[in-house]
Amino acid sequence: MVTLVDPHGRTVRDLRISVTDRCDFRCRYCMPAEGLTWLPRDEVLTFEEIVRVARVSVARFGFDAIRLTGGEPTLRRGIVDLVAMLRELPVDLAMTTNGASLDRLAAPLRAAGLRRVNISCDSLRLDRFAAITRRDALGKVLAGIDAALAAGFDPVKINVVLMRGVNDDEAVDFARFGREKGAQIRFIEFMPLDAEGGWSRDQVVAADDTIAAINAVYPLEGFAHEVEPATRYRYVDGRGEIGAVPSVTRPFCGDCDRIRLTADGQIRSCLFALDEHDVRAVLRSGGSDDDVAAVVERAVGTKWAGHHIGQVTFIRPGRSMSQIGG
Ligand code: 5AD
Ligand code: SF4
Repeated sequence: MVTLVDPHGRTVRDLRISVTDRCDFRCRYCMPAEGLTWLPRDEVLTFEEIVRVARVSVARFGFDAIRLTGGEPTLRRGIVDLVAMLRELPVDLAMTTNGASLDRLAAPLRAAGLRRVNISCDSLRLDRFAAITRRDALGKVLAGIDAALAAGFDPVKINVVLMRGVNDDEAVDFARFGREKGAQIRFIEFMPLDAEGGWSRDQVVAADDTIAAINAVYPLEGFAHEVEPATRYRYVDGRGEIGAVPSVTRPFCGDCDRIRLTADGQIRSCLFALDEHDVRAVLRSGGSDDDVAAVVERAVGTKWAGHHIGQVTFIRPGRSMSQIGG
């Protein structure tokens, strides 16, 4: 087995797989109001193709974490079967979802071998939730969170993107919600991956400010944890933990150990990468496992040290978040 080390010395072992670009939400920071044109079905990798890339990555390079993303991964028909196929691999198998289908799917996904879920939820207020996601689905998502907890996912994480003037007054509400439910809240700084190009630096709520606001009500303490994009904190009273991902104010790119496979079979070394590595072409032209491995290796060789958000050299990638997969 070969360990893949990127040009900055970080071992890369985490594969994010987008299983569909479709989504039933159109979050303002992710998709345009009119929606996007979905990929034609024949451009989307089949389960067999996805599993092959995953298997080669695990067997050759020791990848130990796989996260299924979208668009919205639960919209991919047969998603439970894909989880069952991937459970054969010795990896931490997780999913990032908008949660709206988990009331129905949490238990089957868990039974099929999914280990962890991250559920995106940006407001606990009905009207705001509908305005942000352009879907009146807060009730469904809250039911999904409950279903995930009941199904035994541990931990259940809730991803929250705070935006200035939109939902930045909800940090403490989310902290309370997480404490009461037994779910871990992860605040992710708003990144320029929205489809409408409406991002500006002054809309970003700094992770440190969010943590300070929560600490004033529910005292927090840092603790030693593995290097990862999130900075994690524990409640001093023992009621769980919380994390913040300072993607803009403190880019973690140097510590990032991930690559991404898009629904149409392109490997991206970074959310903000401008180039992609076409593994689908290799899969569909009779390529060997060596050929597949070579694409993965080439992609890792191009990982950047930093994404330059806020600097003059920053270029928005051509795809929005839903098309890349969180
Ligand atoms: N900035 C930060 N996070 C984003 N997400 C989607 N778009 C953005 C953005 N522009 C998050 C979602 C979800 C995860 C997949 O990525 O909220 O939690
Ligand atoms: Fe869909 Fe997630 Fe994008 Fe919202 S953030 S539109 S739920 S892919």
